[in-house]
Amino acid sequence: MTEPAYIGLMSGTSMDGIDAVLASFPGNCVEIHGTFSLPYSDTLRQRLTRACQNQSTPDEVGELDHELGVLFGDAAKGVIEATDLPRSVIAAIGSHGQTIRHQPSGKMPFTMQIGDPNLIAEATGITTVADFRRRDLAAGGQGAPLVPAFHRAFFGDDRANRCIVNIGGIANITWLPHAQPDQALGFDTGPGNALIDAWCLKQTGRPYDDNGHWASTGEINQALLSDMLSDAYFQRPAPKSTGKERFNLSWIETVIARHTGVPANDVQCTLVELTVRSLAMQLPQTRDVTFYVCGGGARNRFLMDRLRTALPEAAVETTAELGVDPQWVEGVAFAWLAKRTLEQQSGNLPAVTGARGKRILGAIYQA
Ligand SMILES: Nc1ncnc2c1ncn2[C@@H]1O[C@H](COP(=O)(O)OP(=O)(O)O)[C@@H](O)[C@H]1O
Ligand SMILES: [Mg+2]
Repeated sequence: MTEPAYIGLMSGTSMDGIDAVLASFPGNCVEIHGTFSLPYSDTLRQRLTRACQNQSTPDEVGELDHELGVLFGDAAKGVIEATDLPRSVIAAIGSHGQTIRHQPSGKMPFTMQIGDPNLIAEATGITTVADFRRRDLAAGGQGAPLVPAFHRAFFGDDRANRCIVNIGGIANITWLPHAQPDQALGFDTGPGNALIDAWCLKQTGRPYDDNGHWASTGEINQALLSDMLSDAYFQRPAPKSTGKERFNLSWIETVIARHTGVPANDVQCTLVELTVRSLAMQLPQTRDVTFYVCGGGARNRFLMDRLRTALPEAAVETTAELGVDPQWVEGVAFAWLAKRTLEQQSGNLPAVTGARGKRILGAIYQA
């Protein structure tokens, strides 16, 4: 019998575009059958940024929800066309959607992902699972990060300590100790590429700093770095998650207002160091462990070099060493989470999100 396959659709806080991946999970392995990327246009990114900053009307958000639903459907069709796998083996689509607000703490916690799943199911004729985060939130959790359950299922090892480091707009880690590979811990460490991208866009007009080249022309400003590292988020104990509501351009501008005359490329270099150092200082262990980086940060050579420098006692690889290309890990995770939902299996790790218990995540939109 052919193994059922699942499509994962992911767009993270970077808002660079949709990553679509078609995968199956034979035995304890990940098999990727096809991938497809659908970049967001600059104008779409600008409109989404306004929504993320609470500056959009309900009509604008409704229209974005529809427009993204169409684009997520297009991405699903794109990945189907990229493979010769017959459509009949595709059991479901797992669509993360696009987060526009994430406020998991406080009196009225909420998290908001848009990209209407009804439109995805209509466009593809494939059962679509979406709204993965809110059940965990309803159970008292952060609704994030959700990828650690996937990391634990496929990347844990009973002989070696491993730590998966996902550097998207926000960075999160999953700690997989060898003695108890099923006892995964994980949380958002803070900014991944979000601040690096925001400063690069503001200063150069480019949405990201290719390979960290511009950052590498600057120097770390230690006073600025310590000021940035004093943000209370980095000291807060897990469970915790964060987003662009906190780490955004105005966060950078507030901090640099306290430091005069720092050249723009030094700020950029310091922001790379902030991602690296905030991550490193929150790790449970830095000796006798291999770090596997995934997400777009793995493609920033300068950031990877800085990470290796900050973790001299550890091996720093990418998830390619574990058989999954860094760009597709999160997409595959949502493909797997859709499988879990359809099999009525839980998708959250309460130790990670802080939820009261395991929950079956997501809502199902029938084919
Ligand atoms: N060649 C590259 N050089 C530097 N940074 C890169 C490169 N490719 C991707 N990135 C970074 O990765 C980000 C996208 O990463 P991704 O994992 O898709 O994040 P998210 O999950 O937040 O969408 C981009 O915004 C950019 O900052
Ligand atoms: Mg992305």
